[in-house]
Amino acid sequence: MTAPAHPSPDNTIFSLFAGDNPEVIANPFPTVAQLRAMGPVVRLPFPLYGLGQGWVVTRMEEVIQVLRDHARFTVDPRSIGGHDAFATRGAGSDAPTTFFDTNSMLRVDEPDHRRLRALVSKAFTPRYMESLRPRVQEIADALLDRVQEQGQMDLVKDYAAPLPINVISEMLGVPEADRPQIHTWSTILARGLVAGHPDPEVLASLQAFGTYTAQLVAVKRRQPADDLISQLIAIEAEGDRLSESELLSMITLLIFAGHETTSNLIATGALLLLDHPTQLAKLTANLDLVPSAVEELLRFDGPAYMTGPRFATQDTELAGQSIKQGELVLPVLISANHDETQFSQPEDLDVARSIQRHMAFGQGIHMCLGAPLARVEGTIAFTTLLKRMPKLRLAVPRDQITWHFNLNSRSLASLPVEF
Ligand code: HEM
Repeated sequence: MTAPAHPSPDNTIFSLFAGDNPEVIANPFPTVAQLRAMGPVVRLPFPLYGLGQGWVVTRMEEVIQVLRDHARFTVDPRSIGGHDAFATRGAGSDAPTTFFDTNSMLRVDEPDHRRLRALVSKAFTPRYMESLRPRVQEIADALLDRVQEQGQMDLVKDYAAPLPINVISEMLGVPEADRPQIHTWSTILARGLVAGHPDPEVLASLQAFGTYTAQLVAVKRRQPADDLISQLIAIEAEGDRLSESELLSMITLLIFAGHETTSNLIATGALLLLDHPTQLAKLTANLDLVPSAVEELLRFDGPAYMTGPRFATQDTELAGQSIKQGELVLPVLISANHDETQFSQPEDLDVARSIQRHMAFGQGIHMCLGAPLARVEGTIAFTTLLKRMPKLRLAVPRDQITWHFNLNSRSLASLPVEF
């Protein structure tokens, strides 16, 4: 059975993926709603991320189907005879390994995925994350100590960016002096690493990030410490469980995934609250609501608008649409998280909303490894911010807030606030 034809997607919808319209970046929600109204599975006639034309999946039920059905949808186009557009980007012949090569856990299917993920899963259990709370709290407090007396700060530069990079760097054993440089590379990567659009600055950052990681691993081989990189090196040395390139790929993935997204949760989440003063006041008056507020911020405007691309392993049908083998299928998480059939009043921000399930961390075997860490960081970041700065307000007119389009979302250039 074939589903009824939907209206053709227009330029505004293209902008959602191309990032070429500042108005859509500043407020993507009407366009996302327009996309969802076209159907649960929509064929887009323009290239998505340079990966060719494809299908976008807009509703929660179908997003879950795609992300859980690993027999019908793969993350690795090479497994079905295709080529990997991302791998050709940074992984030029002599480029150092990073997670944009195909062998990070994010980009492989079972059984490699299970093997790679199992190696680090122990470090990311909710129980271990809970044990990090005191240290995350210290980092959050130290950052706010630096600005408290000034009565103002750039919430992005002074708080949202340094908090997660310091936390993941401590877990991995990245020296403090190197963290600003890593943050700079990651920011350039997040903004520029789109398949099919080589950009010299982006490639140079990818190269520098890869070279840096290889050097750091060499240092830790000589002087192991009590950190995750040293643990992974020990596993690599044991034999066939982790190859050298997988090791480097894993470390760059953890560094990158471990802070860009969480920075965005804190910064974008703070702006969302400032945009909804009643919700901000309700939360400030009752900080016990912070855990539910974090889930609502993740649902409403989570840092990953889509998952990585999936590819149909066979001719198949989804919500009445016929998808051909090899075609690109893109689950749009931000759309599933505003699905009217799943959430009442999805366009309202409600910090006390009781959420059974959202898609901000994805689903299935690739569901975010760092979700427990992001939750701990998000909860501590907002609790500390609102406890210490209960009069938080914007320090510039709202229309001066600017956004950057990212690999799969958007981020704030800066967020000047007073308190
Ligand atoms: C609010 C913060 C975060 C969000 C919204 C987020 C979102 C996501 C999403 C949607 C995926 C699935 C991608 C896909 O299926 O293609 C993912 C995977 C992943 N995330 Fe996160 N993430 C966050 C924080 C973190 C943190 C703190 C880490 C820590 C290192 C992390 C590490 C990873 C890794 C390693 C994967 C790959 C998992 C796999 O393939 O099995 N993320 N993340």
